[in-house]
Amino acid sequence: MNITIFGTGYVGLVTGACLADVGHHVLCMDVDQAKIDKLKAGHIPIYEPGLESIVKHTVEAGRLAFTTDTAEAVSHGVLQFIAVGTPPDEDGSADLQYVTAVARTIGQHMDEYKVVVDKSTVPVGTADRVHAALRAELDKRDLELDFDVVSNPEFLKEGAAVNDFMKPDRIVVGTSSDRAVDLLREVYYPFNRSRDRMIFMDVRSAELTKYAANAMLATKISFMNEVANLAERLGADIEAVRQGIGSDPRIGYHFIYPGCGYGGSCFPKDVQALARTAADCDYEARLLNAVESVNRAQKHVLFDKISHYFQGDLNGKVVALWGLAFKPNTDDMREASSRALMEDLWRAGAKVQAYDPEAMRETQRIFGDRDGLTLCGTKEQALKGADVLAICTEWKEFRSPDFDGIVAALREPAVFDGRNLYEPEMLERYGLVYYAIGRGR
Ligand code: UGA
Repeated sequence: MNITIFGTGYVGLVTGACLADVGHHVLCMDVDQAKIDKLKAGHIPIYEPGLESIVKHTVEAGRLAFTTDTAEAVSHGVLQFIAVGTPPDEDGSADLQYVTAVARTIGQHMDEYKVVVDKSTVPVGTADRVHAALRAELDKRDLELDFDVVSNPEFLKEGAAVNDFMKPDRIVVGTSSDRAVDLLREVYYPFNRSRDRMIFMDVRSAELTKYAANAMLATKISFMNEVANLAERLGADIEAVRQGIGSDPRIGYHFIYPGCGYGGSCFPKDVQALARTAADCDYEARLLNAVESVNRAQKHVLFDKISHYFQGDLNGKVVALWGLAFKPNTDDMREASSRALMEDLWRAGAKVQAYDPEAMRETQRIFGDRDGLTLCGTKEQALKGADVLAICTEWKEFRSPDFDGIVAALREPAVFDGRNLYEPEMLERYGLVYYAIGRGR
């Protein structure tokens, strides 16, 4: 099937590559000429395991192509996926200007039936706005063409996006059009063979499903972080509590890991956007607001521990920082807890020696040659001459480090672990003072 994808960001590129991989003919369109040029030359702008090789072989096979030509893009696909960005406005609501711009573009060029598929995370009611924007363009052209607007939210996790796309838990489609249902079933058939994962519903419910999923996951995390903070004060161990409650299948083990806060491009943005949507319909989303505020505070917990350790005087102290990305297997630093920690440390007069397996270039791009920040090529280098060690991301290579080496390299043998990577007793045996989240101190 011929498919067009608007937007070659994270979602668009993964969607386009994976659809091409199973045999569809995909044209990815972006207004950013430099980005398209790079993609054509084989450069993938994001780090995502498995993506580069799929892009390479589908391009070579002639099933994946890139363009900036809007007319060509609209004429190519019977399905027109919208996967452009929806950055937060100042008030936390999603900015839909790029989404509606695509809708207008489609309306300006289409000359036969199309299904427009909203893939970006968009507030409830966006499909109606896309419908209206597209219809207005057709009216200008005096055309009576038929089209459907469908909501088909994505549930990809960064770092596992290709696998998530190839083996989805569910494929949610919001539409009332039988014609669109048939086309979407055909597109997703290769991913839907062993059992039916497609869930059809009305458009607004599909739009809300996406926000509800992310808000629920964020709620689990903030809940655990709150209990972890309590555990610290009560002399309990959150790791024991986590196992104790996770064993109840109604709660489950997933997404109940406490830590130094959730980050990324989705949870913070989506929780705020849903709370904003609630406010717009005169409903105060008390729980969502609390989830957000617990998370905001949680990003400063490691700093508070470090500051307390140095009795409030961090001036001139050097903190080795392992992990900058908002989670492992990505170079993405949007809303990363490491950023809040670094800002806190700099404000207090401390210096940071930072290392991340993938996000060094991104750190350089964001902070440049900022005073108080040394970018290190290895985790060992980050330790050299540092007073203490802080950890913000649970990369695999941090799980079993050379503890004797850490003791030898640090001026003070203290580890501040924002991801609960180690057993406290084990670190104490090595002579390290261990601070984690909800585990005693
Ligand atoms: C999230 C969702 O998990 C995806 O299902 C969704 O499709 C995606 O947002 C999206 O809306 O596009 P992602 O942001 O890639 O995916 O990352 P997650 O793996 O969910 O992690 C988010 C944050 O939560 C990370 O900072 C992670 O460290 C934190 N986290 C996660 C915890 O603190 N505790 C946990 O138990 C799990």
